[in-house]
Amino acid sequence: MQKISLPPASRMLQPDFIYGVATSSFQIEGAKDSRLPCIWDTFCQQPGAIADNSNGDIACEHVARWQQDVELIASLGVDAYRLSIAWPRVMHQDGSLNEDGLNFYVQLIDALTVKGIKVFVTFYHWDLPQYLEDQGGWLNRQTAFAFRDYVEAVAKVLGDKVYSYATLNEPFCSGYLGYEIGVHAPGLTGRKNGRQAIHNLLLAHGLAMQVLREHCPSSQNGVVLNFSTSYPLDDSPENQRAARIADEYMNWWYLHPLLNGCYPPVMDLLAEDERPDIEDGDMQIIAASLDYLGINFYTRHVFKATDDGWFEQVMPENVPLTDMGWEIYPQSFTDLLVQLQREYPNLPPIYITENGAAMPDKLVDGMVNDEDRIGYFHGHLNAIHAAIEQGVRVDGYFAWSLMDNFEWALGYEKRFGIVYVDYQTQQRTIKNSGLALRDLFNSRANAR
Ligand code: NOJ
Repeated sequence: MQKISLPPASRMLQPDFIYGVATSSFQIEGAKDSRLPCIWDTFCQQPGAIADNSNGDIACEHVARWQQDVELIASLGVDAYRLSIAWPRVMHQDGSLNEDGLNFYVQLIDALTVKGIKVFVTFYHWDLPQYLEDQGGWLNRQTAFAFRDYVEAVAKVLGDKVYSYATLNEPFCSGYLGYEIGVHAPGLTGRKNGRQAIHNLLLAHGLAMQVLREHCPSSQNGVVLNFSTSYPLDDSPENQRAARIADEYMNWWYLHPLLNGCYPPVMDLLAEDERPDIEDGDMQIIAASLDYLGINFYTRHVFKATDDGWFEQVMPENVPLTDMGWEIYPQSFTDLLVQLQREYPNLPPIYITENGAAMPDKLVDGMVNDEDRIGYFHGHLNAIHAAIEQGVRVDGYFAWSLMDNFEWALGYEKRFGIVYVDYQTQQRTIKNSGLALRDLFNSRANAR
């Protein structure tokens, strides 16, 4: 079996570097009947929305099998587990706390803690309660305040049991994919919609940071953003400009307000009626100080200019791809981290909160020999190492994902797990990539 290795003196082999695996509520939990409906339940019912016409009703049956899953997580030798809380499982429609629903997470967090596993909790990994969508969802500014109240109710109970909280996971996906181009729930379109949803999400983040500071002062509190490094197709000034605009529109649109308190210059290229409505004081709330920045990284993007001065993504030819059709180009991970460090002097410490690959896995004789995924992890872990060598501070790394799960609009067809899930039997089998990661984790001086 291929190995995943790092240079022996790497910072990433030191005792305080945190390794973990990540999941999210809607993608693994199932148990739909014991929570309120969310926007993904509704979206899954739209004909053609999900590639295999599936939904999250059963998923990996994690709510029923959580104890076994905790054993599985521990067997991988991780330091930490990143999970998300389903808002519609823990809050009633009248805004009061659903104690039975929250109790599921309390038990899970306690069991992980007993095993010495640090818990990283995300409050919003895209499962907005449907009743809030019926009132406008993220287009309605009030949703940001409802989010704050939900975070407050949960944070009061969980407090410092949780090592690290993230307010949002990838507001790009909730805002842009969900409200601007419509490929994610709730499936709305329009630039104004997208920009407004993103603004309200960022406002929700800032408001939630205030209550986390109050109730969980000793947890590490931050947010998780996704980035795809932007490159121009060639050196022509038009294409270089296109890549820069794309970078601002797709990447910096999120980080810039969080760290600098304003949207990036590409805002000036938008028509008045495409810009978000911003109230006095919003940007200050959004720019709350962060203990860390979570980065989800999968691939890079190459851009060329369009005739109207905007950008268009192009796929380079003859390059290695994952099963998602995403280019495998680890160097772009180093480039991104170094660029972040260069452009944001106030960049907080970084956790890589997701990195991984969907591959066309086959379970043969009780084994999944996913050498391609092992290669992906090896390349990307070493790319992070290279960035650290250039002065970037990275404190941890989470593989996406603990196990195969519901890959949103692509349903169960795409497998990101380091553990294979047979959806007929719900049997879990650690793939060779999971074994290779376990060996890397256990090779450290501080192996648990
Ligand atoms: C990022 C998202 O946070 C996660 O939910 C998704 O499954 C992975 N990317 C892979 O697409």
